[in-house]
Amino acid sequence: MSNPRLVVDGVFKTYPSAEHHRPAVPVLAGIDFAAARGEFIVVTGPSGCGKTTLIDVIAGFLECDRGRVLVDGRAVTAPGRDRVVVFQTLALFEWMTARDNVAFALKAMGVGAVERRRIADSWLERVLLGGFGDRYPYELSGGMRQRLALARVLAAEPSCMLLDEPLAALDSQHRRMMQDELVKLWRDHDRTIVMVTHDLDEAVFLADRVVVLSERPSHVREIVPIDLPAAREERSRTSPRFRECVEHLWELLRA
Ligand SMILES: Nc1ncnc2c1ncn2[C@@H]1O[C@H](COP(=O)(O)OP(=O)(O)OP(=O)(O)O)[C@@H](O)[C@H]1O
Ligand SMILES: [Mg+2]
Repeated sequence: MSNPRLVVDGVFKTYPSAEHHRPAVPVLAGIDFAAARGEFIVVTGPSGCGKTTLIDVIAGFLECDRGRVLVDGRAVTAPGRDRVVVFQTLALFEWMTARDNVAFALKAMGVGAVERRRIADSWLERVLLGGFGDRYPYELSGGMRQRLALARVLAAEPSCMLLDEPLAALDSQHRRMMQDELVKLWRDHDRTIVMVTHDLDEAVFLADRVVVLSERPSHVREIVPIDLPAAREERSRTSPRFRECVEHLWELLRA
């Protein structure tokens, strides 16, 4: 791949033991993959295999023991505005309205107040929270909070989006709506997305390639290219090729 946006190169991570009688926990055992500009990478693997750890390393929240992460050729050493994360356990600013939550990153980017409000409201519309701009997070349901967290990241327009099971808390109807929204977003903008999910239909619907991790300490079991047309539609979900891709991922995870 020439000029990849993101490179994960031989990343190892072991959590040291918290107490001396407990063993250290080796989690990542040499993870390698790259993402091109505008590519949608899905990461999947057994529970506890180290997906969140990997996202934290790419984000720069956690230092790896060996290996490196490059974004646009530069080594990641700390969190940066080029990589924005939606966390598995979501973090919202509880003391700010929904609109201010979304506008937060825009303020840091120097966008003026009127424009901030316009952009924030348009993202709230897109995650189906139009009309909730003045509400506080505690006034929203779990699914609404999740969509708000997603809007907050989308509004920041990072070149690299890291999404750790961003749709896991949504009911199936909203989940599919948000999958469509993610596909649109990714098609309309030149975003590189790395997203963790356990949902194999979701993985195939969204990904250009799926990175399948093994049990902990994890390595890349296989990188599966999803050779479906880039413009995924609702009816892609029932095509024979779509089902084959899902089956293949399922086989890999079971192995
Ligand atoms: N701060 C920590 N200190 C010690 N061990 C940790 C820490 N964070 C995670 N672990 C361990 O590392 C392993 C991987 O955790 P991680 O959260 O990365 O997995 P995951 O693949 O995201 O799991 P899930 O699919 O359940 O979200 C687990 O065994 C977990 O117990
Ligand atoms: Mg996780």
